[in-house]
This record gives sequence, structure tokens and C-alpha cells, in this order.
Amino acid sequence: MPAISFQSVSKTYPSARIQTDPAVRALDDVSFDIQPGEFFGLLGPNGAGKTSLISILAGLSRASAGRILVHGSDVLSDYANARRKLGVVPQELVFDPFFSVRETLRIQSGYFGIKRNDAWIDELLDSLGLADKANANMRQLSGGMKRRVLVAQALVHKPQVIVLDEPTAGVDVELRQTLWQFIAKLNKQGSTVLLTTHYLEEAEALCSRIAMLKRGRVVALAQTSELLKAASSNVLRFKVDSELPSHLAAQARITGRIVQFPANNAHEIEQYLVAIRQAGLVAEDVEIRKADLEDVFLDVMNGKTVEQPQALAGVAK
Ligand SMILES: Nc1ncnc2c1ncn2[C@@H]1O[C@H](COP(=O)(O)OP(=O)(O)O)[C@@H](O)[C@H]1O
Ligand SMILES: [Mg+2]
Repeated sequence: MPAISFQSVSKTYPSARIQTDPAVRALDDVSFDIQPGEFFGLLGPNGAGKTSLISILAGLSRASAGRILVHGSDVLSDYANARRKLGVVPQELVFDPFFSVRETLRIQSGYFGIKRNDAWIDELLDSLGLADKANANMRQLSGGMKRRVLVAQALVHKPQVIVLDEPTAGVDVELRQTLWQFIAKLNKQGSTVLLTTHYLEEAEALCSRIAMLKRGRVVALAQTSELLKAASSNVLRFKVDSELPSHLAAQARITGRIVQFPANNAHEIEQYLVAIRQAGLVAEDVEIRKADLEDVFLDVMNGKTVEQPQALAGVAK
């Protein structure tokens, strides 16, 4: 049985202010399963629908169509069971400012009917570098510290499935390391992890499988290693001081003066450099690097590698 099963999930938000505004289709027929013990990454640009999907999973919002099961429990019709199996770290920081860190975690334990939970609460505080803040009031904490409490809060009931929605957005390096060490340990001990992030190097390092979401649709879904194989092996990167001729620009990824070409071998790299010289341009700061998840991601988002949804899933088989 999958840890999480997304089944044809769609979500349409009503038009924002005036009735002539089009309704927003945030999720469009999203289907995939996450298996127990997986460390799964859900990637996509801002507005792709990641938080909408997680809100429905967490029971905070209702799907317009489709359903989601957590270890077989429907998040709508069997909410209490589904919720107990889930630990959700939301994207937004929301807290009651009047309680201390320990009180916040005790109250959260109470929601799940857990009475004496201090041994686990202490372990959470220790593992997340919060031990010396146990008695501090929530309103006294910095944003990074609040984020840690949010993670601890999601874990008080030892959920089988841990869901993190952009947990490291705007967070310092130290917390990222603390957090990933701890989450990786829980994953090794058997917890399933679903992570959304736009830090692609994080996803590449942590996630064994990745789905990419674009405008509410799954446009790629594969093992991380397969996604990386789907990219060219290398990237030729350099700076130019004037515009590339259109036949070259069409093959390149251009960010201001920086030009990047996907290249499989030395011959291709040479050909690009020759073409640049023939176009009368001077390439500066030339470097060759290994393609990474960001290259795959940009290719997918630009519709370069993947013409149809799921095309990369085929590659994985
Ligand atoms: N409560 C809401 N009401 C109306 N539109 C929303 C609401 N929440 C999200 N949206 C819209 O749905 C789309 C997906 O948003 P979201 O799920 O937050 O994406 P992501 O988390 O990937 O950035 C966006 O176009 C966003 O503006
Ligand atoms: Mg979001």
C-alpha cells in the first residue's frame, strides 16, 4: 500500500475579486504514489501548485476533484486516521505567541491524545537545536527558531509520513544542516518524507525520486538518477558581451551575459566554441561543468526535454 496516493487531484480556486477574473486551476489531474520509506521531492516554480496539493493532503483545503489516501486512509472521509499518520510542516509560520516552546509541543501532543510525551519532546528539542529555548515564549523566537518549532510540532506524534513545504526557504545554513541531518535520520529509520523545495541542490542530494509540477500538472516523475541521466552530461558555460545569433540562442540557456549549452562530449563543446567564434563573438570565462538537477528542471519547465507529460517517466523504466 502506498504511503501517499494522489488520485486525479484537481483544484480550482474561484475567481479572486471580480467575477470576470478567470478561476485559477491550481492543480490539474495530479496522480502519483509515494511508497513507504521513500524520500520524495516535489519540485516546481512558484505558483506551480505545490502548497495547494499539500494543503489538500493535510486536510486544510478540499480538492475540487479526485482524492488522496495516506496509508489507505482518505484525507477527507477518514480525516482523523489520515491526519494521525501525517506530520506536516506548513510553508507559513503560524503560532500562538503566548505559549512557550515546550507548551506548544505539549498542546500539539494533546491534539493527538498523547499525554506523557516529554521524553520525545526533549529528543525533538535536542535534535533540532532548541534545547535552550524550551521555556522561551514563541514571540521571543527568531524566524529560524520558529521554523524549528514548526518542525518539532509536526513530529510530536511520531508520524509515519513527514511532509515539509519549503522548510528551508529563507533559512540559515546551520538550520538547513540540522534539519536535513534529523530528517534523513528519521527517513533511515523508516519514515516516508515528502519535501517541496526550490533549492534544487537540496532535492538532488536528498530525494531518491522527484516529481516536477508545472502549472498544476505533473510534467516529470522519475528517479533522481534517471532525471539526471536525461540531461546532457555536461554544460558549457561562458560569458559574451553581445547577442547570440538566433540559431545558437535557440539551443542555449541565456541569463543576461551568461550563456550555457548542453553538451554530451568534447566534440560538441568544440563545435559550440567554433560557432561562437565564427559569429564574431568572444567567449570569456569559459567553463565546463557537469549537468545537475537545475539543468533538467529548466529543460522540463521550458518544455525542451519533455514534450508530453510523463515522457520522462517512460525514461525511468
Ligand atoms: N487561497 C487561494 N485562493 C486563490 N488562489 C490561490 C490560493 N492559493 C493558491 N492560489 C493560486 O493557485 C496557484 C498555485 O499556488 P500554490 O499552490 O501556492 O503554488 P506553489 O506552492 O507551488 O508556489 C497560484 O496561481 C496561486 O496564486
Ligand atoms: Mg508554496
